[in-house]
Amino acid sequence: MNNLSYARIVGTGSFSPKKILTNKDLEKIVDTSDEWITERSGIKQRHILSENEVLGDMVYDAAVNAIDAAAIDRSQIDLIIVASATNEYSFPSAACILQNRLGIKNIPAFDINAGCTGFIYQLNIANQYIQNGSAKCVLLVAAEALSKVTDWTDRGTCVLFGDGAGAAVLVADTKPGIRSVTIGADGSYKDLLYAKDAMYVEKKDALVHMAGSEVFKVAVKKLGEIANHSLEINNLPIEKLDWLIPHQANMRIIQATAKRINLPMERVIVTIQDQGNTSASSVPLALDTAIRDGRIKRGQTLLMEAFGAGFTWGSALVDY
Ligand code: UT7
Repeated sequence: MNNLSYARIVGTGSFSPKKILTNKDLEKIVDTSDEWITERSGIKQRHILSENEVLGDMVYDAAVNAIDAAAIDRSQIDLIIVASATNEYSFPSAACILQNRLGIKNIPAFDINAGCTGFIYQLNIANQYIQNGSAKCVLLVAAEALSKVTDWTDRGTCVLFGDGAGAAVLVADTKPGIRSVTIGADGSYKDLLYAKDAMYVEKKDALVHMAGSEVFKVAVKKLGEIANHSLEINNLPIEKLDWLIPHQANMRIIQATAKRINLPMERVIVTIQDQGNTSASSVPLALDTAIRDGRIKRGQTLLMEAFGAGFTWGSALVDY
């Protein structure tokens, strides 16, 4: 191990499109109600891209916010990773598009797709690069333009999703930082949550398909397990955990996970009411929101977790 063997978050950023779609707005589009959506999911509104906005715009704005918060020079960044399943290009990657917009050259830039678990996968990868000395300053952006792949005639899914981006800058440091990041996947669940590529199928099949209650059951079980796993491998008693920053898919799933690790809801960051489910971006968006509004402070210990299409899952224990 080299001296700078820990990956530490030095700045975060986020971006939410200006356009807001409320539950009341959705009542005019599909057979639903504000009451049903609030009770079953906890969502009150979501941000949606306008017709002329694309994923790359959110990626860039969130990245700039994080770079500013980190107070680093762009030239220090030596790796860019973007997590998304909704890039406007099949290629080049959203990371290469971002690199160009930031005016940086000659550093590696690539995308990953781990569904809603994108940010936790990114933390895992960034941690490896920093621990083995291959990178010293990593820019992560997780972003989703889910409104572009939402079936606006399907009330089972269209009330859930939103657009947004979250970002973080991680640097090599002598102290933690990331204490552990555990990730996993089981592709045998691929048919419960998917959107096929529009290149191969009719438009309708290229939209989000989700067997909601089946996904719900596996998510509750898996998220409880992995949250506990992170606490156990770090020997961290629950009293020493300052915040849980969960994937914002469903308020009932968030409450179940908090209960499973015996954490009161006062120590859980919840943004789902304002954002809906923004997939990969949901955890870094919640993280940035709570850092900027002063809830999360330097020196606190954070547990982040997510679950999504694949299925994929992951949890990270981080000293902020
Ligand atoms: O982020 C990646 C992972 N994703 C998740 O973790 C999401 C997991 N799933 C969920 O969050 C929940 O399953 C949903 C919020 C999607 C649905 O909640 P649910 O309690 O599982 O409801 P359900 O799908 O079992 O549907 C219950 C009833 C059905 O009617 P019947 O068959 O009981 O008459 C649905 O047709 O609610 C009906 N329904 C709706 N009613 C009003 C489904 N969607 C709606 C709607 N408005 N939007």
